[in-house]
Amino acid sequence: MSQSAFTRRPFDQRSAALVEHVEQRLASLLDGQDQLSQAMQYSVFNGGKRLRPLLVHATGELLEIDPVLLDPAACAVELIHCYSLVHDDLPAMDDDALRRGRPTTHLQFDEATAILAGDALQALAFEILASDPDLGQHPAAGMDMIKILTQACGARGMAGGQALDLQLEGQRPDRDALEHMFRLKTGALIRASVMMPAALADQLDPAASAALSRFADQVGLAFQICDDLLDIEGETAVIGKTVGSDQAHDKATWPALFGIEAARERISELADDALANLSLLDGNAGALLWLTDRLLNRDR
Ligand code: IPE
Ligand code: IPE
Ligand code: MG
Ligand code: MG
Ligand code: MG
Repeated sequence: MSQSAFTRRPFDQRSAALVEHVEQRLASLLDGQDQLSQAMQYSVFNGGKRLRPLLVHATGELLEIDPVLLDPAACAVELIHCYSLVHDDLPAMDDDALRRGRPTTHLQFDEATAILAGDALQALAFEILASDPDLGQHPAAGMDMIKILTQACGARGMAGGQALDLQLEGQRPDRDALEHMFRLKTGALIRASVMMPAALADQLDPAASAALSRFADQVGLAFQICDDLLDIEGETAVIGKTVGSDQAHDKATWPALFGIEAARERISELADDALANLSLLDGNAGALLWLTDRLLNRDR
């Protein structure tokens, strides 16, 4: 099928092929034989949903970006996400034994190897963005994308949110403090998945960029509330993680603090606001609409 016939099909029918495409690209980047490389491969090729790479491509469709230019961002954000999960599961953090239905990286290998695999996955993410030849034709956008991703994984993004998450164990923060932590630990990478493609859209005006950013922020926050609900209501065999881990570690989660029904209502309120912002944008939002539903109505 020609590329244009492929892109005319609804995004839901193309998402599996897009995931396969991104996974092939990741496989070509992670081909070492040594133990550290094997730990990196183990941490990436293990049945992740690849929602962030899909978000990169779905946003690219709305903004009519050449998919070739989106691949580096799709790979980079997934590598950062995988690294964040490896470190998140360590005994010093959430101390979890199961990830994506398999033993966590520190149990399959050892703690030092898991720490280093995370470090190396993070470095590889930025190497991809900095050295991709197609993106190299657009140096200003490439530099903006690196900036967006570094900010999203640093002290004011994922890593900062993870620090707050640990500080809040056993605490009862108010809703604003809890949601601030969620927007950093989880929302920041979701937002980067949307704003990296935006960096490639040179016609995007500030109002459209702000609407896209708000859309991503709201989806990112709602995504973590869904994750908290799955830890209570999900099934270990389906979510691939040990159900009840949050309660066992006295984590500050949305449903634990404010109730399951209120959590569901909050997700729906955030989804409405996200979609209202999406509707402010010109272009075909079909892919992002479908993906938002998949992100916020899921059983794993
Ligand atoms: C889980 O993310 C961790 C959070 C940030 C909530 P995902 O639910 O996207 O995990 P995978 O990548 O599919 O395993
Ligand atoms: C995930 O939060 C945040 C990350 C940055 C990894 P959780 O700790 O709730 O994620 P899971 O439930 O272990 O996937
Ligand atoms: Mg955690
Ligand atoms: Mg965790
Ligand atoms: Mg969780």
